[in-house]
Amino acid sequence: MTVELLQIGPLMPRLMEALAKSYRVHRLWEAADKDKLLREIGPSVRAIATDGHRGASSAVMAALPKLEIISCFGVGVDAVDLPAAKARGVKVTNTPDVLNDDVADLALGLMLAVYRTLPLADRFVREGRWLQGPLPLNRKLTGQRLGIVGLGRIGLAVAKRAAGFDMSIAYHNRKRRTDVPFAFHADAVSLARNVDVLCLTCPGGAETRHLVNAQVLDAMGPQGVLINVARGSVVDEPALVKALAEKRIAAAGLDVFEAEPRAPEALFKLDNVVLTPHIASGTTQTRAAMADLVTENLRRHFAGEPLKTPLW
Ligand code: NAP
Ligand code: 8YV
Repeated sequence: MTVELLQIGPLMPRLMEALAKSYRVHRLWEAADKDKLLREIGPSVRAIATDGHRGASSAVMAALPKLEIISCFGVGVDAVDLPAAKARGVKVTNTPDVLNDDVADLALGLMLAVYRTLPLADRFVREGRWLQGPLPLNRKLTGQRLGIVGLGRIGLAVAKRAAGFDMSIAYHNRKRRTDVPFAFHADAVSLARNVDVLCLTCPGGAETRHLVNAQVLDAMGPQGVLINVARGSVVDEPALVKALAEKRIAAAGLDVFEAEPRAPEALFKLDNVVLTPHIASGTTQTRAAMADLVTENLRRHFAGEPLKTPLW
């Protein structure tokens, strides 16, 4: 019998097509009355396919008594209610590793864009302002001191690239790593005080909410640069906007925001920020690999094989 699967929101075409081939897919986001749909199909649903933005709430899980697995398109699972899944014995899978390179590339790209003022320079040429004189000088990235908050899979890929720019590396995790030569800081304030660029690559969720607050921003100081490719929730956004506007930190490169797809409008008029719309994993190659991991985990589960990337 075809397995019934609940898809929480739209996913990339490659993934939607693959899911439709193997499962009877119910599209929650398209239902005019979601509660009605859940009442009708909930009792027979055995799988959820979702992404890192929409996740899966405990309320949806509660409507699916036969739920066995949640397969998430994205490595960050802060939008999936993990305690609820665990309590129910529901397996959760994500898409680690396949996106490390792209996310780290974007982190370095944001550093270069911020230090070398690339968006400003581009506008300067297009708007004909070069004809009136040269662009003011910008700052050198090579040799800067990098601090990584969350030295995991992506953080290590950032460190590898930063080494190519002769950057020294320090980090803050909850636990000191024994397999890296980098300086460990037991808290984010201490790390911020000792680096030029603070790059966030930790998970989102309650535990890291506003880890970067006004105190951390002040510890970075007026030459400090913040790069966030983690989650918007990791940063106290109003405090960041204030610190940037008052030049208490030098600049920021931000791929993620607290209320996506909205970014704080106050940032739009600031020249010392570079903004991207949560695109760090957004290359065709990586998104295809992520899509294939989502379906491979589901296939393995229903074939009784070990999962490829289980959370537990
Ligand atoms: P990972 O391998 O699990 O690494 C996460 C690191 O963060 C670990 O080193 C962990 O070390 C540290 N960490 C966890 N909780 C912490 C806390 N409370 N305080 C300080 N450090 C903490 O994860 P990953 O695969 O590198 O992914 C990291 C995150 O990047 C994802 O969760 C996601 O939110 C984000 N991401 C964003 C994009 C994007 O498009 N912008 C794309 C992919 C991923 P300890 O356990 O020792 O604390
Ligand atoms: C995705 C991400 O864009 O993997 C993550 O945690 O943030 C990105 O790769 C997102 O999860 C897509 O849903």
